[in-house]
Amino acid sequence: MARSPSIVILTGAGISAESGLHTFRDKNGIWNRVRLEDVATPEAFAAHPARVQKFYNKRRAMLPSVQPNAAHHALARLEKTYDGLVTIITQNVDDLHERAGSDSVIHMHGELNKSLCAACGTSIPHKGDLSIDSECGHCGAIGRLRPDVVWFGEMPYQMDRIYELLRDCDLFISIGTSGNVYPAAQFVQEASHGGAHTLEINLEPSLGVSDFAETRHGKAGALLPLFVDEVLTGQYRF
Ligand code: OAD
Repeated sequence: MARSPSIVILTGAGISAESGLHTFRDKNGIWNRVRLEDVATPEAFAAHPARVQKFYNKRRAMLPSVQPNAAHHALARLEKTYDGLVTIITQNVDDLHERAGSDSVIHMHGELNKSLCAACGTSIPHKGDLSIDSECGHCGAIGRLRPDVVWFGEMPYQMDRIYELLRDCDLFISIGTSGNVYPAAQFVQEASHGGAHTLEINLEPSLGVSDFAETRHGKAGALLPLFVDEVLTGQYRF
């Protein structure tokens, strides 16, 4: 029996923008207000742990006050209803895909709602602030907990699984990401080499737009519900 075409979806900060979370590189983006070298590298954490914890505490504290938007809900509906494999690879550290109902989500840049112990390597769910005195619930080390997010210079999570998914997929969709950060920026080429159709859905053309076979530009919250309708009714062919 022929398998149903599989879909891999890469998401970035743009998909959460309509929920009220800041992107990184737009006019009011996070990296236009804070230097990433000050908060998003292992060196920054070693030099100024309290400053780094404060930056992520603030972002974590925002999560309960924001809600998944129409784009997150559309992807959850696609996963539940589509007759084939749908996997989301997200660069986002928020929990909005899960709260919209998506189950198959890979957080390649980690999650704000998890802590990672630098002493024992244990990652566990974590709500609330982390401080330079926080104690690891697993090994008891004090002052070694950090947010379980991937910093610049560190290896993103689950890369073997991600490359396998990209090689095997039939449709690759990139949503709300500027194409500035590797390795995610190069996933389109990987999927394309594997024979997948590739689609960019973004507010504006990304840096890698010319690598995509198809593009749709506009707000994810407006475009995705319509796109998912097209897929589920069989109007969209790939
Ligand atoms: P960026 O801020 O670089 O890009 C966000 C993209 O979303 C831009 O191209 C916007 O035009 C687009 N966008 C904004 N609002 C949108 C909307 N309503 N609908 C659709 N698109 C919209 O964010 P990312 O590409 O996700 O990594 O950034 C990648 C990584 O860089 C992040 O995961 C983070 C950051 O540094 C780490 O911290 C390791």
